[in-house]
Amino acid sequence: MFAPSVFAARRARLQQAGLSGLLLFVGNVDSPMNYHDNTLPFVQDSSFRYFFGLNEPGLAGVIDADSGEATLFGNDPDVSDIVWTGPLPSLSERAAKAAVGRSRPYAELARLLAEARAAGRPVRYLAPYRGETLIEMGRLLDVHPAEVKAGFCPALTRAVVALREIKGEEEIAEMENALGVTHAMHIAAMQNAKPGVLEYQVVGIMEGIMRRHDWHLAYPSIFSKRGEVLHNHGHGNVLQQGDLVLNDTGCASGGGYASDITRTFPVGGKFSTRQRELYDIVLEMQEAAIAAIKPGVKYQDIHKLSAAVMVERMAELGFFRGDADAIVESGAYAIAFPHGLGHQIGMDVHDMEALGEDLVGYGDGAERSPLFGLGYLRLGKPLKAGMVVTVEPGVYFIPALIEAWEKEERHSAFINYAKFREYADFGGIRIEDNVLVTADGSRVLGEPIPKTVEEIEAVMAV
Ligand code: GLY
Ligand code: MN
Ligand code: MN
Repeated sequence: MFAPSVFAARRARLQQAGLSGLLLFVGNVDSPMNYHDNTLPFVQDSSFRYFFGLNEPGLAGVIDADSGEATLFGNDPDVSDIVWTGPLPSLSERAAKAAVGRSRPYAELARLLAEARAAGRPVRYLAPYRGETLIEMGRLLDVHPAEVKAGFCPALTRAVVALREIKGEEEIAEMENALGVTHAMHIAAMQNAKPGVLEYQVVGIMEGIMRRHDWHLAYPSIFSKRGEVLHNHGHGNVLQQGDLVLNDTGCASGGGYASDITRTFPVGGKFSTRQRELYDIVLEMQEAAIAAIKPGVKYQDIHKLSAAVMVERMAELGFFRGDADAIVESGAYAIAFPHGLGHQIGMDVHDMEALGEDLVGYGDGAERSPLFGLGYLRLGKPLKAGMVVTVEPGVYFIPALIEAWEKEERHSAFINYAKFREYADFGGIRIEDNVLVTADGSRVLGEPIPKTVEEIEAVMAV
C-alpha cells in the first residue's frame, strides 16, 4: 500500500473536480465460491482502493465534495472475527493507513445517505458491476437494485477516469514490479513448452511462479496452440513440435496493479519459414504502433496505422490486393486482425472498463467505429502523458470467419480467399506489451521479454 499521503492527495484532487454532495465508494465484499464461508480470492473495487487504499472486504468510503472531509465506514473486529482470522486492526487504524480522519460503523452509512438526500444533497456514485454491490447499494440508497445502475453519476465517472488514467510514479513502479514477475513467467513458459507436454502443465508452472509471490492472476491465462481463438481459456492440448503457442498471461501485484503480456513462440524452439514471415509482420505492426505513441495522437489512428503495416506486408505474401488505406478503411483487414490494438491498463487489466467502456476509451473527438474489428477497439481517444496502454496487434487465421466472409464474398476485391484458406490450420500470433505514454513519446515498461525471432529462439535453446 502506498503512503497515506498518496490517498489524501488523490481525494483532494477529486474534490477539485467541482462536484457537489456526497461521493460514495462502496468496496467489494467477499464472493462465495460455492457456499458463504468458502470464498474466491478477494479482489477490491479499484476505485475504492484508489481513493481509500484498503484491500479488505466490507468497507465503504464517502467524500463530502463540499467540505472535502472523507469518512471510512466499516466495522471493528469483534472477538469471533479474531478467533477465526487472528488479530485485526481497528477501523480507525485502517482509516489512518489512507489518511482518512473519520471512521464510523458501517450501520451508520445508510442513515448518512438518507439524511443527505433529505437535505437535497446529491449522492454520487460510479456504476456498480457486481451483483452483491448492486443489492447493497439498492439497500443503502433505498431504491430497487435494478435502478441502481441507471443512477450512476457521469460527471463523477469522468472525474475519476481523469485521475486514474494518469499514472503517478508510484503506480508505474508498481506496474514494473508486476512486469518483473510476468517476465519470469513468460521465460518459464518458453522454456517448458516442449513437445509432448500438455498446455496446462506449462500454465501450472507459470502460475506457480506468480503464487510464490502470493499474487493472483490479472485475468484468466490464455495459453494455447489454438491462438486464433482470441480468449481461449482451455489448456487441454498436447504440444507438438512446430506448434505455434500464444501465451497471454499477466498478474495482479500485491500492490494492486496488473500486467498484460503476450508472446507467441514455436514448440521446439525454431520458427518455420511460414511462421517467421507472419511473426515478423506482427512485430513490425507493434513496433510501428509504439513508435507512433505520443500525447495528442488518437489511439484509433495508431490502430489503423498498425493495420496498414499488416496489410502492406501481407499483400507482399499474396493475402490482400489493392490500396492498403482503402483496405483498412473498408474494414477488410479485420479478417486477419479482428480485435483492437489495445486498452488502458492499471489497477484493472482493462483499466476502469467497469465504469463504462465508452466513457473511458472514447470522447475528445473519437467515436467508436461501427466496423467489425475496429469496433472492438476499447481505447480510441487521444493519448495523454501518464497513460499506460497495451499495444497488442495480432494476425489470426480463424477458419469460421474466413469461410463466412468468403461465402458472402465480403471484400472479395481486397481479400485473396484462396491464400487465406491455405493457412486455415496456422493458428494465431499476438505480441503485447504495456507502454507508458511520456511527454514526447513512449516507454515500454518492464525488463524486456524476448520478442524478436532471434531472442525467442535463443531463450528457448537453453
Ligand atoms: N489479456 C486480455 C487482453 O489482452 O486484453
Ligand atoms: Mn490486453
Ligand atoms: Mn493480453
